[in-house]
Order: sequence, then C-alpha cells, then structure tokens
Amino acid sequence: MFNKILLVDNEIHLTESLERFLFEEGYDVITCINAENALEILDDQSIDLIITDIMLQGINGIELLKIIKNKRPEIPVIITTAYASLETAVESLRGGAADYITKPIIYEELKQVIRKILKNNKNSRENISRKGTIAQNFDFKNIIGQNNEFIKILEDIKKIAKSRSNVLIVGETGTGKELIARAIHNNSYRVNQPFIPINCSAIPENLFESELFGHIKGSFTGALITKKGLFEEANGGTVFLDEIADLSLPLQAKLLRVIEDREIRPVGSNQSNKIDIRFITATSKDIFKETLIGRFRDDLYYRINVITIKLPSLKDRKEDIVLLINYFINKYSKENGKKISEITPEAIRILVNYGWPGNIRELQNIIERAVLLCENEVINEALIKDYLKDENLSIIPNFLDSKLSITDYTRSFIIRYEKTHSEQEIADMLGITRKSLWEKRKKWGLIRKNYN
Ligand SMILES: Nc1ncnc2c1ncn2[C@@H]1O[C@H](COP(=O)(O)OP(=O)(O)OP(=O)(O)O)[C@@H](O)[C@H]1O
Ligand SMILES: [Mg+2]
Repeated sequence: MFNKILLVDNEIHLTESLERFLFEEGYDVITCINAENALEILDDQSIDLIITDIMLQGINGIELLKIIKNKRPEIPVIITTAYASLETAVESLRGGAADYITKPIIYEELKQVIRKILKNNKNSRENISRKGTIAQNFDFKNIIGQNNEFIKILEDIKKIAKSRSNVLIVGETGTGKELIARAIHNNSYRVNQPFIPINCSAIPENLFESELFGHIKGSFTGALITKKGLFEEANGGTVFLDEIADLSLPLQAKLLRVIEDREIRPVGSNQSNKIDIRFITATSKDIFKETLIGRFRDDLYYRINVITIKLPSLKDRKEDIVLLINYFINKYSKENGKKISEITPEAIRILVNYGWPGNIRELQNIIERAVLLCENEVINEALIKDYLKDENLSIIPNFLDSKLSITDYTRSFIIRYEKTHSEQEIADMLGITRKSLWEKRKKWGLIRKNYN
C-alpha cells in the first residue's frame, strides 16, 4: 500500500510539479485547490498526510488545519507558505501542524520531512496528542545558560535553524561557537545529513582547494587517486568554516564563487558539480574591521553574514558561571566515576570573579582537572587557584554575596526552567538524574501539585 498524500494549493503549476515529484518518490497523490474540496476528499478517502498552503480562497490553510485537527486528529498536516513569518509558523505548530515549510519548497527537504512524519505517525497512531511540538523540535540539551543575552541567542537559533540562510558566529575563543553551530544544524532539516567542521587556519594554503573541492587523479603531483572534497562530503548538510577571517584573499575569492554558484569544480576537472550546503562560519576576529582594511572581501562578508550571532564572553555572563561549574562537576564526576558533591563558597567566589580569557573552554578544563585531582567529595580553592592566571584574578569579591551557594543557583535554575522545560530536560541541563532532580525539588519544596 502506498501512502496517500493530499495536496491543497491554488498555484496549479506548483502542485503539478510537486505532484510529479511525490509520485516518483512512491506516494499516491491527490491534489485540490481549496479547503472545501479537501474536506470532501477527506470524507470519502483514506489520506495519510496533508500538505496545505496557507493562502487559499475561502477557508485558509490555518483554519483548515484546525478543522482537520478536530475531525481527524490522526492525520498529520504540513503547512506551506510563501509569506514566512514567525507568527504564522508558531500559529501553525500550536494548531497542531506536523511541520511548517516556506516556499519555494525544496523538494529534498520536503521529502525528508514527509518521511520523518509518516514514520513517527506510524509509531504513535494511538498517541495522537501533538502538544509540545515546538519544544520537541528544538534540542539544546547540552547548552547551559540563563543570561538574558544568551537566552535571546537560543531563541534566535530556533527561528533561524529551519531557514537556509548562512550564519556567521562571532565570539572570543572558547565561547561556544562550534557548539552553537552544531545546535543550528541539529535543529535544522539537515539534521540527518553531515555536519562538517573545517578549520580554515589549519589547512595549508596549497592544499585548501583540493581538500575542500576535491581533485581528480593526476591533477597534481601526489594526486594518486580521484578524491572527493569535504564540500561534496557535506552535500545536503552543513559546513562549519571556523576561523574564516584567516582565509587568504585568493581563497576567499574561490569560496565566494562556490557560495554564489552553489557548485564546485574539483582540481583538475573541467566539470562542475552542483552542491546544496548551508554555510555556518565563525571567527574570533573583528571581521568587519578586516573588511575595512582590505584583508577580507566585503562581497564574501555579505554572503556569509546573512545572520550574525554574537556570543557573549563568559565574564559578561557571570550569572552563568555557577551553572556551568555545577554542570561540569556533574559531568566529569560521572565520567570519572567520582562522587563530588560540593564546591566551597570561596572556590566559587574566585571562579565567578575571574576574567576568563579562555571563556567556557577554560572553565571546563579547570573543573575537569579539579574533579580528577580531588581526593574527597569537596572541591576547594586549592584545587583551582594554581591554574588561574594572576592578572585575571579579580580583587573585587562582591559579585556573589557570601551566602549564595551552588545550591541557591541550582534552585533558581529549576524555578526558572520548570515552566518551559520537561523534568528530563532540566535534569540533563544540570547533569543530574531525574531521580536526583526530584529529590532536590522535594527538599526545596518545589514539587508541583499535579506531579503527585
Ligand atoms: N553554553 C555552554 N554550555 C555548556 N558547554 C559549553 C557552552 N558553551 C561552550 N561549551 C563547551 O565549551 C567548549 C568550547 O566550546 P566551543 O568549542 O564551541 O567554543 P569555540 O568558540 O568554538 O572555541 P574556539 O574559539 O577555541 O574554537 C566545548 O567543550 C563546549 O562544549
Ligand atoms: Mg571552535
């Protein structure tokens, strides 16, 4: 039995080619141009999936969605629209849409979405409640932070992950650029395709082209076999170009051509291959300044910088330091089979007031080392102080009041996230088990009535 898809759209030329594509993918397809017709078809045929545009004559797509969710909640609905806005996306997903796609429809993307939905739907026919679709669609489990600016960044990622736009991530060393790049990929339609990180400053100039674009056998001394480049490996997925500002001007020109033409030509080949890649780039330099002094091409800058994410330095998000300490202590204790239950207030005070030139990576290393060296269950200042650079130790000890402990932070963290996140998600963020989260809640009187 083929799955049957009902396509509702009044742009006939579009439905025709989409119908053909879906038919070739092995689906049975019925098309109609308005919601009224769609509802008639639903009454006398068995349909597995509906794809509807929002702008329809008469009943519009969102209203149609509501009617279907009422009458036939088991049938998944994909909403499409040429007029993308966050509001309609949210409205569709709240209304129970299985997904939301902006036009022009990229067929490969749609194909993946349909497959996923039909598979999930088969698995959960009985469980038709689609509440929480929005939350489930986003996965930030291993990203810690409650600083306002940082939360805003995570909100932005939700909005941009599903688009095709290239993203530039700017931030000092160790601020989480790669982590954020992966989060964008993981929350995009490309999630089942490769994510390939490439450090531009680590690839020698003369090998750059062949590494990235590939080469054919014999095209230069040493090219013993025909080799696919990293861009081709990444086809369909995301390429993360780290340290982009370090790219030389000639290589910038080559990269620009790939981004503009969406095709690559392997070294020694006279034929170009089409590629579909989302580029996420990162730099710790002031790349705009680099364009002003002529070290970075501005046409390339505008191509990669459709969306910019600026990650704050750790010293500017001090409220997150204790959360991260807690998270890393739990993480490394677990990984190393240790039972560390505490860190002294003095140690916390020092860490919170430190300047963190190496940002989160530096904090992570220091905690990992402290956990490994710790011989009892408590991390004290002696275990951390030696690794901090004197010039970054602050003499103003007033950020944390002396009574504020890791417990207070954990407690405020739980209170902050419990309305928007599941128990499992909060436990994951804190790096503890659900059982231990439950115990903490009970101890602190944070058990909600409906849990009992
Ligand atoms: N918000 C966060 N929550 C948890 N861990 C984080 C967070 N941000 C960064 N990290 C961790 O810190 C380390 C450094 O992050 P990442 O490699 O993404 O930074 P980067 O900006 O790419 O650094 P670099 O400039 O050195 O390449 C990683 O191990 C990452 O998992
Ligand atoms: Mg990095």
